[in-house]
Amino acid sequence: MREQAEAGCVPRLLTARLILTVPEEADAEALQAYAQRNEAAHRDWSPPPAPDALTLASAVRRIRDARRQFEAGSHMRFWLRWRHDPKGLFVGAITLSAIELGAFRCARVGYSLDHACQGQGLMTEALRAVVRHAFESLRLHRLEASVIPTNERSVRVLERMGFVVEGYARKYLFINGQLRDHLLTSLSNPELEDPERFRQAGSGGARSSGPDQARARTGRPETSGCPEASGCLETGSWAQPADSPALDGTRRTQ
Ligand SMILES: CC(C)(COP(=O)(O)OP(=O)(O)OC[C@H]1O[C@@H](n2cnc3c(N)ncnc32)[C@H](O)[C@@H]1OP(=O)(O)O)[C@@H](O)C(=O)NCCC(=O)NCCS
Repeated sequence: MREQAEAGCVPRLLTARLILTVPEEADAEALQAYAQRNEAAHRDWSPPPAPDALTLASAVRRIRDARRQFEAGSHMRFWLRWRHDPKGLFVGAITLSAIELGAFRCARVGYSLDHACQGQGLMTEALRAVVRHAFESLRLHRLEASVIPTNERSVRVLERMGFVVEGYARKYLFINGQLRDHLLTSLSNPELEDPERFRQAGSGGARSSGPDQARARTGRPETSGCPEASGCLETGSWAQPADSPALDGTRRTQ
């Protein structure tokens, strides 16, 4: 399912089973419940939450922060719900953070899924929609994701999506009380390897803020208002070069 609907200027991405959107303050209780349900299950793999992360006040604050960062175009946190229950429980989240345009056109990707919903292909399905949004609407060239090598489920998600390993960072992120080594991976948008298309995607100048950065909010030039439903790339067109390393460190053989 490849659709993108709109809620004002906030994108809502639809997949076969899910709806992805930036939450509103009315969603605070659903966000608090997600944090409470998954605190233990996510502890080994995700950065430590704030000390008050399980409170309603924290949920409200996080939603306000997410809306502000979304407006600034620097950060986009999508929350996942069942498509048949769009006001119901949150089942997961995907963040595009540190969004930079200009000559970089890059964002970092992070994600988590409710522990009760794992093993159904939901994160892969949701990530496909977010990658499509990042490449087609935001016109990013590159997405980066880091993962603890022993986080097998997450490594498999990145493999399925075509992310490739670019490095191994020692003591990279403080997770569950210690600095953990991470694999550094990325996925690039082959369409923007064409210099003319890259130029058309943005200013092509230095890592930018201001007008170009603001376009990351909607994925459209500032003057055109809200984003429209976008055309779609086939997943296969995100394939990496044959000689790039796979997630297990081996070379791809095509
Ligand atoms: C990482 C995480 C999001 C992966 O969740 P997940 O459910 O394994 O991922 P997916 O939604 O893509 O599901 C894929 C699994 O569902 C199965 N599956 C069932 N139906 C499927 C379908 N229609 N399509 C694809 N996979 C399907 C697959 O076999 C696969 O299992 P496998 O990985 O054992 O082969 C989840 O484990 C999580 O939230 N972990 C804690 C937080 C975390 O680690 N975040 C990432 C930090 S880097």
